[in-house]
Amino acid sequence: MVFMEQVKILLLDLDPGSDLGRMLRRILESPADLGIRLQHESLGTRGLDFYDGGLSKILSSFDPDVIFLVLSPGTFKQAGALLPSLRRELPDIPVMVVMEAREPDEVLELLRLGAADFITPPLKAVDIFPRLWQWVDRVHWRDTPEALMRTLKEKLGLKQLVGKSPAFLAEIKKIPSIAQCQASVLISGETGTGKEVCARAIHYLSPRAGKPFIPVNCGAIPVELVENELFGHARGAFTGASTSQPGLIHEADGGTLFLDEIDSLPPLAQVKLLRFLQEKEYRPLGSVKTHLADVRIISATNVHLEVAAREGRFRQDLYYRLNVIPLTLPPLRERREDIPLLAHHFLAKYAAELNKRAMDFSSDAMQLLMLYEWPGNVRELEHVVQRAVVLSGQGVIQKDHIHLPNLETIARQESFQEAKAKVIEQFEKTYIRELLLAHQGNITKAAQAAKKNRRAFWQLMRKHQIDVQNFKPGAP
Ligand SMILES: Nc1ncnc2c1ncn2[C@@H]1O[C@H](COP(=O)(O)OP(=O)(O)O)[C@@H](O)[C@H]1O
Ligand SMILES: [Mg+2]
Repeated sequence: MVFMEQVKILLLDLDPGSDLGRMLRRILESPADLGIRLQHESLGTRGLDFYDGGLSKILSSFDPDVIFLVLSPGTFKQAGALLPSLRRELPDIPVMVVMEAREPDEVLELLRLGAADFITPPLKAVDIFPRLWQWVDRVHWRDTPEALMRTLKEKLGLKQLVGKSPAFLAEIKKIPSIAQCQASVLISGETGTGKEVCARAIHYLSPRAGKPFIPVNCGAIPVELVENELFGHARGAFTGASTSQPGLIHEADGGTLFLDEIDSLPPLAQVKLLRFLQEKEYRPLGSVKTHLADVRIISATNVHLEVAAREGRFRQDLYYRLNVIPLTLPPLRERREDIPLLAHHFLAKYAAELNKRAMDFSSDAMQLLMLYEWPGNVRELEHVVQRAVVLSGQGVIQKDHIHLPNLETIARQESFQEAKAKVIEQFEKTYIRELLLAHQGNITKAAQAAKKNRRAFWQLMRKHQIDVQNFKPGAP
């Protein structure tokens, strides 16, 4: 592997007392033919003011292509101050953080602050160079038409994620930074909560965007075929295997493998997947040779995988490998404020598909949508709206067009008090939303119409976490 041109690497060492920086330097300098120019700066003993003055000078005179930032647990805080200044000074230059493996929370924090990638000891050339290569590649190509196309796709990819509830946003906000690292992601959430959409968003925002995204539903493949699907087979591996056949891991090389319903992965396949995650190599069925593949794994589950692992239904060691970065999507009934947004999103989509004029929901139709439990989450809502659009004529979707199963289960075994509190809460939310909608987000006017004072009205909005911006003209 030879870089096209010289690559300038700045190694900022916040932990000069340890060997980490020196080891990294040794690895980066060992292949003479890579054209790497390295500048090693020990920051461990310098004060914070250095970050403003001295660092700026180094950055502008050396003009690095990639920065490696070496930390120890003791310099985690310093890194927190340093990363944002690096992002400010050199927004396009990736910063790779090198440190001992940490809690996922801390990793996420650094990602949020702008770290592009993580490398943890033991430092190995086989880990470091492929990543370095990817980042350099990305930096060098960022202005080409392909890069523009990619950005476009990314934007489209993220636009499909509709929702403004705090519970939803808290998770979605992590996606851009998760995309910039290589760690395995485990997405948990009930069926239809958007796990696959998120997995795609991560892939298309990542440096792997130009390579394949391969989804596999582990629950849909017969148990005896899973290994064959994932790892492929050699010629003669079993009766009828007259030719060798590559598996999905091979197909996903350079890209992302999305393992949906990972909890249904049979035990033997779990062992093989674990080995692949540890070694980056695997052996097709019946093959004596091992193969290498560079694949990022995103898995998804609608069961509590940690519980399954504790109860011995899933390998614990594999669970930890898959769950480096957890993403948990809340069910729709826990973020009901997203229902109107999503409903209107799907309404516009299907109205356009069916060539119908601008459409809306009647208020009792919307109320029905707001009250339902949505066991099938966003997917179910999408189907219900699609059907309503088909059934309705032009114009307004009425209550009768909304077909929901088991409406009677809504008022299951709850006490009178609980049921009443729920209905009041729903009523308040719907009532306020409708008024805000009618008055285009003007709180004063909405409060007047409700014959409440502005402050009380505003408090109700706050109680239900209703964002007035959603109701202003031009909001989605
Ligand atoms: N936040 C969202 N915004 C828009 N559409 C969504 C959202 N979440 C899910 N969807 C849609 O709902 C359907 C189910 O999503 P999917 O990602 O397949 O769910 P899961 O994998 O969790 O079962 C898809 O058609 C998807 O486009
Ligand atoms: Mg799915």
